[in-house]
Amino acid sequence: MGVARRVAPDALYQLRSRPLAYLRELWGAYRSPAALARLLDRPRAEIAGYWDDLLGRDRFYERVRAREEELSRSGRTGSSPGGRADAYSEVLYVLVRALRPETVVETGVALGYSSAYLLQALHDNGTGRLHSIDLPTTDPEGRTNADGVRDRVHLGSAEDTGAVIPADLRDRWELTLGPSNPTLVSVLGKVGPIDIFFHDSEHSYENMMWEYRTAWPSLRPGGWLLSDDVHWNAAFPEFAGAQGSPSFRWFGPRGHRGAVAKPGAPATPTARR
Ligand SMILES: C[S@@+](CC[C@H](N)C(=O)[O-])C[C@H]1O[C@@H](n2cnc3c(N)ncnc32)[C@H](O)[C@@H]1O
Repeated sequence: MGVARRVAPDALYQLRSRPLAYLRELWGAYRSPAALARLLDRPRAEIAGYWDDLLGRDRFYERVRAREEELSRSGRTGSSPGGRADAYSEVLYVLVRALRPETVVETGVALGYSSAYLLQALHDNGTGRLHSIDLPTTDPEGRTNADGVRDRVHLGSAEDTGAVIPADLRDRWELTLGPSNPTLVSVLGKVGPIDIFFHDSEHSYENMMWEYRTAWPSLRPGGWLLSDDVHWNAAFPEFAGAQGSPSFRWFGPRGHRGAVAKPGAPATPTARR
């Protein structure tokens, strides 16, 4: 898979609007297939093939971008989205393709970029459901978390939670609105054992640790806990370090996103492509 193909969808727009961040993403995207193949103990060609699927099939980026443009035309963009169609979310897609989960739970949706990637992967696998939790805010100042750190992510309207998710991917999606603590407990109770948990809600140490500890017992052996913004505090390294299992960080100089597998069974089921 050539880097050129990865650059194609919106390179000029990205290079003009956020050159340094975009170049870092490209570097991460270039390195990620090999790193993920090692982590999952899969052939690099298989992992690269999933990336090719995402880049080549179904016009995923164009459909997400079309939803963004609709929001923008109606003046409903809110803050910077807190996620984007870009290389760091591609890893979410590839992990879901490779792991073929039946049940995925995520906290933190905003406009729904991560949800869209996860749902596209479930769609391409032909199996699985995504259960998402979000507590949207329309306050232009965003929120200050329990560590006193402000997160400015906000929506134009609470109804725009997940707004960039293409309509044809929504049949595998269930959204529950409420604070992750305690909403996660009731969602996990309802869905039973899960294969992937993805944290991207309030990034305070207390909330991240609470979500990891709450989700972990529901993860099937061999399931994966994923987390955004693991560099905000020590919660992810502490939690992942205590599991005695390989962990992985990707995107950004310090690895913004992290993954750790639950031991007890092969973490990487045989690919069924
Ligand atoms: C960074 S954004 C999520 C971005 C999204 N995962 C993506 O990649 O496109 C964080 C979201 O978490 C929500 N949030 C913040 N605190 C929360 C909490 N305690 N419980 C649930 N959601 C929360 C915010 O309203 C916001 O929509």
